[in-house]
Amino acid sequence: MELLDKLNWRYASKAMNKEVVSQEKVDKIIEAARLAPTSSGLQPFEILVITNQEIKEQIRPISWNQSVITDCSHLLVFVAWDTYTEDRINKMFDLTNEVRGFKNEGWENYRQMLLGMYPQKDPEENFNHASKQAYIAFGMSIAAAAFEGVDATPVEGFEADALDKILGLREKGLRSAVMLPIGYRDTEKDWLVNLKKVRKSTDELVTIID
Ligand SMILES: Cc1cc2nc3c(=O)[nH]c(=O)nc-3n(C[C@H](O)[C@H](O)[C@H](O)COP(=O)(O)O)c2cc1C
Repeated sequence: MELLDKLNWRYASKAMNKEVVSQEKVDKIIEAARLAPTSSGLQPFEILVITNQEIKEQIRPISWNQSVITDCSHLLVFVAWDTYTEDRINKMFDLTNEVRGFKNEGWENYRQMLLGMYPQKDPEENFNHASKQAYIAFGMSIAAAAFEGVDATPVEGFEADALDKILGLREKGLRSAVMLPIGYRDTEKDWLVNLKKVRKSTDELVTIID
């Protein structure tokens, strides 16, 4: 199957059947997120992979009681940096130098530019920027899950402050951005499973400027 066939196959499952996704597939879904492009390569987010049923049970009531939270196999939580700090920026630039094995003046100037820009900004603005990067990775994981024949429901319907508390995120300088329960659709219980995919037309989506 081509990628587009797989994207047509996927949908935001409303009910999952608790079947466990193999570690090999989970690893691929996470690797797609790790490989996501991010602004300046900073990767300002982390992914929590929750299989602990008790924690899932705690998360469900603060997530509009959505059953996929408890009936998924793995609950991926994309969490973003609460702000950009000098340390965080330096760490990624140092990693680049270490992996590539050399220092580059242009790259070092770029580091200084970011150091002079991000840490001084309002943390809320920085968190919003970091969240956007997390969403790119989240999209990659959604596509990777489809590619692997695994269902994935994007979930933004939750109380972020409550989730941050349950997961102890704030004290680690992190805040929840979005969740992705992955598992297998329950074809009997899911009202959405046989409904047509609805998308606006390409004409409405695209404007060609020659
Ligand atoms: C960022 C984001 C947040 C979403 N949050 C929820 C959610 O909390 N619960 C849910 O059932 N679906 C959620 N959805 C699923 C969308 O409603 C769904 O992707 C959209 O209607 C398109 O349908 P499809 O994904 O089934 O093709 C979310 C989707 C995205 C991209």
